[in-house]
Amino acid sequence: MGWKLAAFLLAVSIRYANADCTCYEQANYTGTSAPLSNSFERSDFSACYTPCSYVAYSGDDTFGWGGLTINWGSVADTTGKIQIFDGTDTTGTPLIVVNAKENVVNGIDKSLIRSSQPRITITYTQEGTGANNYNGVIKASPGLQPSTVPITTTAAPTTRTYNNPTFKYDPYLITHDIMIVVNQRTSGGMAALNNVSD
Ligand SMILES: *[C@@H]1O[C@H](CO)[C@@H](O)[C@H](O)[C@H]1NC(C)=O
Repeated sequence: MGWKLAAFLLAVSIRYANADCTCYEQANYTGTSAPLSNSFERSDFSACYTPCSYVAYSGDDTFGWGGLTINWGSVADTTGKIQIFDGTDTTGTPLIVVNAKENVVNGIDKSLIRSSQPRITITYTQEGTGANNYNGVIKASPGLQPSTVPITTTAAPTTRTYNNPTFKYDPYLITHDIMIVVNQRTSGGMAALNNVSD
């Protein structure tokens, strides 16, 4: 029996090593319509079974994720499982679990679940080595409260009493991007220069 197991493990490891099994979504996704589909062999696009995981973000912290739909095609491994987690990691209870062969159509419970965070982590795992086909989508839409980043308020400009006949407005409040031209030869010229200086 031992050699059979060894041969089996060898066959599996060779298959795994030789396989160029690529996750459908290879990087983290930014956009409002995140795709879910089985991994595939680069050579011929046939389905394969490597585990996959990525983070989807709409690009807007007030957008949450929901409206999941999933369709399964041929299923060779019923342990296949799509899990969607609130946030950027896979700790805690998943928000949605969809098992192999379980189609999720628009309007059913799993389609109505919405994330409470602007980022979700979408994973696919299975225990065996049969290739499953599935595809689906989850969408981002408005509805989350903006993240509670502390709001820094800008202090209102200090006002002070100003009453000077030379300048209509207090030069003290002129802070940038302005050039003042004063004609020294006019009667108010020197007074004006002194005021600017002050
Ligand atoms: C995807 O995002 C997660 C969480 O922010 C991060 O840990 C991971 O490195 C990212 N992966 C890629 C391929 O950028």
